[in-house]
Amino acid sequence: MSETLKNLKNMNVKSFQDDLISWFEREQRDLPWRKDQDPYKVWVSEIMLQQTKVDTVIPYFLNFIEQFPTLDELAAADEEKVLKAWEGLGYYSRVRNLHSAVKEVKEKYESKVPDNPKGISSLKGVGPYTAGAILSIAYGKPEPAVDGNVMRVLSRILSIWEDIAKPSTRKVFEEAVRQLISEENPSYFNQALMELGALICTPTSPSCLLCPVREHCCAFEEGTQGELPVKTKKKSVKHVDLIAGLLINEEGKILIHKRPNKGLLADLWEFPNVEKSQIVHPRRVLEDFLLDEYKVKGEIQTRSFVKIDHVFSHLTWEIEVFAGEIIGKVNETATLKLVTAEELAEYAFPVSHQKIWKEYQNTIEK
Ligand code: ADE
Repeated sequence: MSETLKNLKNMNVKSFQDDLISWFEREQRDLPWRKDQDPYKVWVSEIMLQQTKVDTVIPYFLNFIEQFPTLDELAAADEEKVLKAWEGLGYYSRVRNLHSAVKEVKEKYESKVPDNPKGISSLKGVGPYTAGAILSIAYGKPEPAVDGNVMRVLSRILSIWEDIAKPSTRKVFEEAVRQLISEENPSYFNQALMELGALICTPTSPSCLLCPVREHCCAFEEGTQGELPVKTKKKSVKHVDLIAGLLINEEGKILIHKRPNKGLLADLWEFPNVEKSQIVHPRRVLEDFLLDEYKVKGEIQTRSFVKIDHVFSHLTWEIEVFAGEIIGKVNETATLKLVTAEELAEYAFPVSHQKIWKEYQNTIEK
């Protein structure tokens, strides 16, 4: 056992498990992915819950499962439809990986999600956290499922002072879970740690007086819960200014473009846009860009109708949006299309570009 886990030795593991699990049995939230242990549904929910809050995930999960109730139905679905169902959740590579992984499960494992660490970890987009969550929740295997919330909870309970921003630190916590996990009910044990992190052992001002495992908690005893976990700051975020065009031809169709299949927001649709850099003449930059990049002659109106700010984890965008007209014909391709307002609703757009469309509709209704 490593030096950092020395507090494990003094712990009454059985009593800790009982206190934690019985609290979870009493207090757990009624969440749609807890209705059954279908590995496919557990998988979808865990991918959605990475970096996204439970309240946001619930409607997406219900809609996704209604559209793709089984692994086979998701495997057979059109990529565009799958992206559309994810629209607004962000981190779109998660759903693309999920989609290719379920196809692999269908072909290689006769549609049965693997129930062992080696098989499940080989799937695209399934990291150690997701693998542990599926194995424990769907299959009852005593495997750790350690994410940032679980690290926060355990750093306090066991007084672990390693920097949780460092990728190598997760292994310390996985070792701790292997020592602590209930062999009888690994599913509830892992979910209880997650639930404790969400409801009681929150990042700031944890509700220690309501905590079911307070008497096992080193940080509570030492009064250090406010100092844990140790988490160093990430690098600063980059800022990019963009100019976008909402361009309409004489039939009232709107020009949209499909983003490259790699990188940020890959394969989503957008309104044509270009980075502003230092140039002060945005209209001209946009007109030149349309001509050079898409061979489209556009006439941009003199005033922008809205500015949109969007914050990613590593980047912020400020998009200045102009309306404009398309002069002459557009050569449509697989990645450049003219669509009606009705058709536009079928394409998956990032949240920032959905905001552009909403603002435009508000403008023309006024
Ligand atoms: N966060 C990550 N996984 C979760 C789950 N299964 N239930 C609630 N919150 C979670």
